Parts: sequence; C-alpha cells; structure tokens
Amino acid sequence: MRIGLAGLGTVGGGLLQLMESGRLGGGALRVAAVSARNRARERGVDMSAFRWFDDPVELAADPEIDVLVELIGGSDGPAKKAVEVALARGAHVVTANKALIAVHGAELAALSEKHGGKLLFEAAVGGGVPIVKALRESLAGARVMSVSGILNGTCNYLLTEMESSGRSYADVLADAQRLGYAEADPVMDVGGFDAAHKITILAAIAFATQPDFAHCAIEGVDAVTLTDIRMAGKLGYRIKLIAKAERIDDAVALHVRPTLLAFDHPLASVGGALNAAVVEAEPVGRLTFIGKGAGAGPTASAVAADLIDLLAGRAGPAFGRPLAELAPVARATPKERGRFYMRLLVADRPGVIAAVSDRLGREGISIESILQMPSRDAGPVPIVLTTQPCPREALDAAALHIQQLDAVSEPPRVMPIEETDASPRLWT
Ligand SMILES: NC(=O)c1ccc[n+]([C@@H]2O[C@H](COP(=O)([O-])OP(=O)(O)OC[C@H]3O[C@@H](n4cnc5c(N)ncnc54)[C@H](OP(=O)(O)O)[C@@H]3O)[C@@H](O)[C@H]2O)c1
Repeated sequence: MRIGLAGLGTVGGGLLQLMESGRLGGGALRVAAVSARNRARERGVDMSAFRWFDDPVELAADPEIDVLVELIGGSDGPAKKAVEVALARGAHVVTANKALIAVHGAELAALSEKHGGKLLFEAAVGGGVPIVKALRESLAGARVMSVSGILNGTCNYLLTEMESSGRSYADVLADAQRLGYAEADPVMDVGGFDAAHKITILAAIAFATQPDFAHCAIEGVDAVTLTDIRMAGKLGYRIKLIAKAERIDDAVALHVRPTLLAFDHPLASVGGALNAAVVEAEPVGRLTFIGKGAGAGPTASAVAADLIDLLAGRAGPAFGRPLAELAPVARATPKERGRFYMRLLVADRPGVIAAVSDRLGREGISIESILQMPSRDAGPVPIVLTTQPCPREALDAAALHIQQLDAVSEPPRVMPIEETDASPRLWT
C-alpha cells in the first residue's frame, strides 16, 4: 500500500520514525511520497527515498498513491482540498485532523461512500487513546447514553499546574508556552474549540448522527481563576474542562465547559496532559479510557493502526454506519437542571450575603454551601456558593438580578457540578 504523507511535523515525523523499521503492516506499507511547506527543513529521517511535493493537493491527486495520510491540520485550506481530491479519485484517507472531521465530516464521508475510498481518523480524538475505534466497533452493539471526557491535554495541564503550584492562569500559560506545551496562539485549546471538535466526532459515532459542530456549546478554561480552583477544592471539588455528549430522548446535548467534579469522580484524578473519556452505555455500564492524548509517538501509533486496518480490509464507514443511516442533526435544547457553583466578587459589608440569598430565593433556589475568604484589604472579596439542584434557567435569572446589586462588582461566574451516579440527572 503506497502512502502519500502530507504534513511532516510532530505527527508526520512521528509516523515516519514508526515506519522506519519497515515492520509496520508486515512491510506491506510504504511511504512513497511526502509533502510539507519547507523542503529544506531537517526532519531527522532520511527523506531521499520519498518523492517530494510542494503542494499537498498534487500529492493527493497522484495515481501512484493508494492512501493519503493528512497530517497538516486546519478545518479548511490545503488539508481539506487534499482530502477531497484523494477521496474523489477513490483513494483512502487517514487523518488526525479533528477540526476537518468535526466541521466537514459528513460531506467527506459522502465522498468516501460515493467513490469507495475509506476515511479513517482514530488519531483525531484522544491521540493514542483508542476511543474512536472503541465507539465505532467495540460498542456497536450497545446503546451509548453519554460520552464525557477530558479531551484537551493543554487545558488539563494548565488546570493541574494551577492547582498544584498555586500560580495564576496567565503565569502557568506563559510557562507552558515557553516549554512548548501550549501553542503560541493558544485559543483553539484554551478556548475549548479543540475539545469541541473532538466531542463532536465522538457524539456522531456514539449516537449515529452526522457531526454537528455548530451545535456544540463551548466555554474554555481562560476564565477559570485560581480563586475558583481553591474555593472548589475547599468544597470537595476539582475543576476540569469537560467535553460531554449526552443522549436526551432522541436528541443529543453537546457541550464543552469547566465543570466541578467531586474528588471521587472518575475524571477528577486525571492530571497533567493526559486525556480521558468515560462512556456510559447500556447494557455495558461505565467504561473509562485514559492515556496520552497527544505527542508524536502516541498519535502516530493511532495513525498506523488505521493504516493497518486499511491493509487488512477492516475499514468500514467513517462514522460506523453509512451516511444514510445517520440522523442529520444531533440538536437538543434540553432544560438543564442540577447543582451549580457560583463565584461572586462583592464589597465586604453587612447584608451582602443576605441580598444574594434573597435574589436566589426569589427564583426558588436554595444555597447548599457558601464560602468567603477573609479579606486583607478594603477591596472586594470573593464569595462562592453551591446550590441545591435547580433549573439552570432560574439560576441565570437570579444571576442577572445579583449582578445589579450595588455591592457586586462583576458578573457572577457559574459552573455546573457534575453529579455522580447516586445524584439526580443533570438534564431533564
Ligand atoms: N501534535 C499532536 O500531538 C497531535 C495530536 C492529535 C492530533 N493532531 C493533529 O494532527 C495534525 C498535525 O498536527 P502536528 O502537531 O503534527 O502539526 P505540525 O507539527 O504543525 O505539522 C504540520 C505539518 O504540515 C505542514 N504544512 C503546513 N501547511 C502546509 C501546506 N500548506 N502545504 C504542505 N504542508 C503544509 C508543515 O510543513 P513544514 O514542516 O514544512 O512547516 C508541517 O510539516 C493536526 O490536524 C493536529 O490537530 C496532532
């Protein structure tokens, strides 16, 4: 099987190293041609045996290539064009590009079905963690109720570092950028978009719907403060960026947001740059996957697994079922109900807590716990509270009233508390 490799960066370089031994696929897999931007760049691998293309779209069009491995990235531009050109001539495509699959997955799957080339993307979600294949194949006979996970290693690293070092978000991010753990432009990661691409893909496979990225509600970690982390810790919770897709009757709720998890929650102890996913399915129960979600080796190994599946003739439809069997949209607008965390910055004077409690009470919301840090000066002080189970709508209404109080100096910050099995459902 002749491979055209577009993109020779972290993952592309990792794949070349993995293939150098020649053992992959019993020697039946061979890189025939490559493409990247800069031909002169030293890649640590002997490139002399590969034909070079400046343009990845020309590489994709080459009839001598049986499978295009797209490791450039980006939902549009040359990556998309190259994948389209390869699929349109019936060649197979293996990609690690979650943005491309989340945004254009349905149209690419259509091209794949029309012309017969397979479209595989194990490496697009969870790096080395085999969650795509598990949902698509191993759980094909189960009814998945929810998939939730820590799907962005950069965000998890930042939150873990803030908690363990007591340093601010800005400090930890600056360090992570210096050390190469975070991109110079970190918005795709810290803004929650990367995790949203990944949960969109998992939701499509888990619930047999077309990928519906536009419907994913996205909040990143950029507004999580050290105060939130400390206060949540005192209340028995750890803050994680949770991407979640949940079946609600015949529709799907899809979101990415910072969430408070009780210390004994299966995702609460997943630290550093690790990725993890928890699948709840009937009649299987709960399954937990944890591992390296990025990096040259783990991601290249997932790409290689797709290549081996192609070689063995094991590859099926991109999202597990033919496009015609996928529901066109996953939209649900469930009314959310649960317990919530609210952080306020207020003037330190008598009557403020009573006024906040009154505004919550008017919406029928009871406070479960409340915590105020001692103030060292005359400035505003943070107060955090957790609620009893209540409708999110009511909490948002109360938050608007609270924001208008003279003593409140910034809009309240609200985060959901993820319930455990014994607790009421978060959505109704
Ligand atoms: N890094 C990870 O751990 C990881 C994990 C999971 C998934 N992914 C996904 O894998 C893909 C690749 O990521 P990466 O980290 O390997 O990226 P990267 O290190 O930035 O490498 C990108 C490669 O694409 C090449 N490239 C960029 N624009 C091009 C163009 N117009 N024409 C031809 N080549 C072009 C670059 O060429 P030059 O080398 O000449 O600049 C480089 O070789 C992305 O979709 C990413 O989301 C990455």
